[in-house]
Amino acid sequence: MANVTDLEQHLALHFVYVVERAAVASARTMGQGDRKGSDQAAVQAMRDAFEHLPIAGNIVIGEGERDEAPMLYIGEKVGAPREDGRAHSEVDIAVDPLEGTNLCATGANNAIAVLAVAEPGGLLHAPDCYMEKIIAGPACRGAIDLDAPVAQNLKSIARRLDREVKDLTIIVLDRPRHAQLIEDIRRAGARIRLIGDGDLSAGIAVAVRGNGVHAVMGVGGAPEGVITAAAMRCLHGEIVARLVVDTPELRERVARMGIKDPDRVYTAGDLAPGDQILFAACGVTDGALLRGVRFFGEGHRTHTLVMTSSANSVRFIDTVHMDRHPGPRGVRLY
Ligand code: FBP
Repeated sequence: MANVTDLEQHLALHFVYVVERAAVASARTMGQGDRKGSDQAAVQAMRDAFEHLPIAGNIVIGEGERDEAPMLYIGEKVGAPREDGRAHSEVDIAVDPLEGTNLCATGANNAIAVLAVAEPGGLLHAPDCYMEKIIAGPACRGAIDLDAPVAQNLKSIARRLDREVKDLTIIVLDRPRHAQLIEDIRRAGARIRLIGDGDLSAGIAVAVRGNGVHAVMGVGGAPEGVITAAAMRCLHGEIVARLVVDTPELRERVARMGIKDPDRVYTAGDLAPGDQILFAACGVTDGALLRGVRFFGEGHRTHTLVMTSSANSVRFIDTVHMDRHPGPRGVRLY
């Protein structure tokens, strides 16, 4: 099993490499209008990058079940074999090689390549269904309640952030299912930022002060919810969430995955209970926290966030990758 030192000191840069490879591959497809092609490029690059990693990795959240995903399927083992035949550290991995496939396909902001890692059992094995979520920063821990009226949650968030409800900006996925939520937020007097996609990067943005956004509300993907929870464990933010289990088939599937109470309300600690959590994300397109991949004559430049739950540090890694020897005028940075 990986220990804290392993994750922080030895493995962090390896996972940075993995998200960088996925980000660069998908960034090459930016604006091509082919969301599946962008996703495939990211998946293939991430899968290839894992082959070099000194881990015994188990994909717990990935591209789907084995029969529907050729790569990075749930249960797939990733990592390089050890030359001496002994076992590497075992880790569970949740991946989203391209979060915001539409964003990348249209060249819009906030597409990222992202993963979370924990010791075995440290990340909830969530089905690929919807999840109700409220995500907010560290000041709001313990103040948000999934079953409370929207206006009450907004009041609590505003109080914790030492401001009035009218000074809050709430991020909501722009979907017809959110018509009532949007109406309630408007009526309560808060401002809204509607986003086309990407509630995972939105969740990270609200957990970091100074971004001018204060909470994410609404229904998005459950896998994104678990990865967001891993980020919240590192940033000390909060997510409260509940799976949307609305068909008998899904109820059965959730039970098969070992989830006893499908209506349970989860916190960040329930979704990502590991003692040792690592989160890494690389910008594909420009966003609130991360710049997208930039390509230039001799190479490309990536911007990556990596953090662990045990170290109180959030690292931003800005890397110039030289694909070719620089010309006579030396290294160009963009
Ligand atoms: P993809 O990257 O898989 O396209 O997901 C983007 C996303 O917007 C997530 O951020 C969000 O959780 C989910 O899709 C919402 O799902 P839907 O588009 O079905 O409303």
